[in-house]
Amino acid sequence: MPRGSPSPPPSSTIMANILVAFVCLIFIGPSSVIPVSAQSDSTAPAKSFPAFTPSDNYLINCGSTSPTTLPGNRAFQPDETTAKYLAYSGRDLHISAPDNKNVPSPMYLSAKIFDSEATYTFHVTSPGLHWIRLYFYPLQNNEFNLQTAKFSVSVDTLVLLRDYQMEKNEPVMKEFLVNVTTERYAIKFAPSQGSIAFANAIEFVTAPGKLLDYSVPLLFPVSQKFDLSTSNFETTYRLNVGGAYLDATNDTLGRSWLSDEPFRNSATGQAVTVQPSVIQYPTAGGSPLIAPPTVYSSAVKMADSETTIPNFNISWTMDIDTSYTYLIRLHFCDIISKSLNELYFNVYINDKMAISGLDLSSLTQRLSTAFYKDFVIDASSASNPLSVKVSPVNDVQGFKNAILNGLEVFRMNNSMGSLDGQYGVDGTKSSGPSKTVAYVGFAMMFGAFVGLGAIVFKWQKRPQDWQKRNSFSSWLLPLHAGDTSFMAGSKASLSRKSQFFSSNMGLGRYFSFAELSDATNNWESTAIIGVGGFGNVYYGEIDDGTKVAVKRGNPQSEQGINEFQTEIQMLSKLRHRHLVSLIGYCDENTEMILVYEFMQNGPFRDHLYGKNFPPLTWKQRLEICIGSARGLHYLHTGASTAIIHRDVKTTNILLDENLVAKMADFGLSKDCLANETHVSTAVKGSFGYLDPEYFRKQQLTDKSDVYSFGVVLLEALCARPAINPSLPREQVNLAEWGMQWKKKGLLDKIIDPTLVGQINPESMKKFGEAAEKCLAEYGTDRPSMGDVLWNLEYALQLQEASLQGKAEEENKASSSPVSPAIVAPTPAPVPAPSTPDNRPVSTPEQTRNPAELQTIDDHSGTKMFDQFGALNGR
Ligand SMILES: *[C@@H]1O[C@H](CO)[C@@H](O)[C@H](O)[C@H]1NC(C)=O
Ligand SMILES: *[C@@H]1O[C@H](CO)[C@@H](O)[C@H](O)[C@H]1NC(C)=O
Ligand SMILES: *[C@@H]1O[C@H](CO)[C@@H](O)[C@H](O)[C@H]1NC(C)=O
Ligand SMILES: *[C@@H]1O[C@H](CO)[C@@H](O)[C@H](O)[C@H]1NC(C)=O
Repeated sequence: MPRGSPSPPPSSTIMANILVAFVCLIFIGPSSVIPVSAQSDSTAPAKSFPAFTPSDNYLINCGSTSPTTLPGNRAFQPDETTAKYLAYSGRDLHISAPDNKNVPSPMYLSAKIFDSEATYTFHVTSPGLHWIRLYFYPLQNNEFNLQTAKFSVSVDTLVLLRDYQMEKNEPVMKEFLVNVTTERYAIKFAPSQGSIAFANAIEFVTAPGKLLDYSVPLLFPVSQKFDLSTSNFETTYRLNVGGAYLDATNDTLGRSWLSDEPFRNSATGQAVTVQPSVIQYPTAGGSPLIAPPTVYSSAVKMADSETTIPNFNISWTMDIDTSYTYLIRLHFCDIISKSLNELYFNVYINDKMAISGLDLSSLTQRLSTAFYKDFVIDASSASNPLSVKVSPVNDVQGFKNAILNGLEVFRMNNSMGSLDGQYGVDGTKSSGPSKTVAYVGFAMMFGAFVGLGAIVFKWQKRPQDWQKRNSFSSWLLPLHAGDTSFMAGSKASLSRKSQFFSSNMGLGRYFSFAELSDATNNWESTAIIGVGGFGNVYYGEIDDGTKVAVKRGNPQSEQGINEFQTEIQMLSKLRHRHLVSLIGYCDENTEMILVYEFMQNGPFRDHLYGKNFPPLTWKQRLEICIGSARGLHYLHTGASTAIIHRDVKTTNILLDENLVAKMADFGLSKDCLANETHVSTAVKGSFGYLDPEYFRKQQLTDKSDVYSFGVVLLEALCARPAINPSLPREQVNLAEWGMQWKKKGLLDKIIDPTLVGQINPESMKKFGEAAEKCLAEYGTDRPSMGDVLWNLEYALQLQEASLQGKAEEENKASSSPVSPAIVAPTPAPVPAPSTPDNRPVSTPEQTRNPAELQTIDDHSGTKMFDQFGALNGR
């Protein structure tokens, strides 16, 4: 075809465009600032928006004798004026220092020191969002070393700082955004035992309600929203990308914005600045309160976008604590284009596509117009460091550029109501100041004693041969790994009716054998829900009917003991939404019992074939595959050492009551230690899922799991076992058979008949490709679980896009403004399978209650498996 001659775009391109348009529409929810019409009055400069006046405005300069007025007309009051807010019965201690050029604000030059609990209580004129800003600087003085001071700060039902200590001899400002619902609001400073608390300044100021949107999309899974209305926030990073440090002079809400330079991979980006006065804000829903014009008037764009390799990412990385959920706000404003439609780029957060093909021109209809986008990164999918990348869309002709103007990262409080650690404020609330301190101190002391007692007790009843078995660490581990769980364990032993610990506490609880006998009705045989090499899995109920799965090891088998120890060690290190949680364990006498969360819907396999459960939809199957991929990805990358599951199969993927998939059975798992490039032990795992390279080289890598996962994908698509010896020879092995059809491009011929007509062809194509890549002959050719995950998420987006399209078509009456952009992609009719050969042949299973069947360790096709036994000896 001659160059430049227009050719009709292939249908896949149209599809991709529809998808891009659709994805944009998903991401840009109605809550974002999008002008609906393109009229010239739809935007306005910052100065035409009304200024914000906070209804509550408490500014306290602790330890000072005269008011200090800061830029922005913010007058901080001295102790004399603010004493009426303070309840404190300790010594009156305040210090001040002469003028010091090294502090960014005069507020740091005086401080109040508290030797016992001190509470500032404020009257709230209107409920809603408020800033709390706490200023700390360890001023030199004769009596106290403030740098070693250790204290907690809490409010109402929220912990702001716990056992906080200054890391450096530098001024620190901690900013929180809290939702105030009460008429009186108390900020409490509590010294840690034997220490003191201090503060240099305190702000408690109303924040505009429009600062937050209440329903924010999760980065993952896409299309899910996170409700922010019960959350409180701590500002972790606030960056003026491409610009200088900004303070209250430039931000009417008293925020400060740091330069992004220390966080940017500077080789790839170039700062660009325009006059702040050219920045426009959308009049419908927009506001300069979101971020001032000085933030939008600077940006980082791709350096030298005309170079020969102009397509790369500009990236920012920031350290975060992955045990929290974060709100990420990205600010954009096209200050670099000469005319509309020149800028078109992708935004990635943690290497996941956050915004595909961001087209500011079509969103704002004008250049130099502010736009922002929020995402929530759930703790379960967070990774450290947090990374944000922008890069041009590949196939755009001519212009290749990408920008970012501002970036905010907020930590959100956990379910304990804390922004710092795992403890809530309870127990420290109602009693008077000094009494509470004593109580806390006593509780801590008592907790430590009980903990010590427990260790001594455990030491005395250690297995006689513990040294031989080299098992001491795993055996003691559940008590000492991490302070938090240490305390948690102690509390459990305090109350006889021990409580349940949330999965992020780190470690499980100790059960007595009697307790577990009770829970399982004396190990009744009808309670058996699974049988494995190590022993049986029982259904049980503990406490007030909490359902659990109890795995009771068979003490005779040495292998069983090792697996028990491996598993308890593994599971105590691993916490993830897509891994089955360990609740506790029992090692009384020679018993080795693990207690897990109960997975209501049992193994994934039972929902695919052999059990007559209602068939899962394609979307459900995709979500289950994505969930298990996430679990595996976490195993491979989330812990300090990579962990290979070694037995990935559909019976080890369990489903909870909401069909959320979790990986189970780490009995075969092995740490892939740094000094071992691979693990070579006896071939374990299940036939039909085994990596062919594993046989050849006797080497196990994380890519072996990827291979097995490829088989799982085919199983989900075709609804038949990985090995079915009763089928004609060429069909016995699903991986081989499936790949034959995939190579012919006819994978759709062998899919589960209940899926026919349901799968969007593009989604099917993506999924088939993912499976094919996983099943590559050589490990090095297989993708990482992270890549597989991304492909599956993409397949899900494609499926959802088509579902949405269908819904739109059926619902033409609705005049949603977005509908013209979505053209329903009519799925090509999928031909019915020509033969019934792919139908499942149920494998003989023991008779069990299907709904409760789980963790079955069956090695399908044991006969064929035998031939590999010989390999072990090599
Ligand atoms: C604050 O909390 C209340 C009660 O939980 C909730 O209804 C409201 O939406 C929240 N408001 C803000 C501004 O977060
Ligand atoms: C911030 O405000 C001050 C005072 O108005 C001004 O001099 C300074 O240039 C502003 N900074 C930026 C980066 O615009
Ligand atoms: C930019 O980063 C994303 C996410 O890591 C990656 O998928 C993409 O290929 C990168 N683009 C370029 C041009 O390197
Ligand atoms: C945040 O803390 C509050 C208590 O202050 C609690 O009600 C809320 O559930 C917590 N939010 C989350 C997401 O756990």
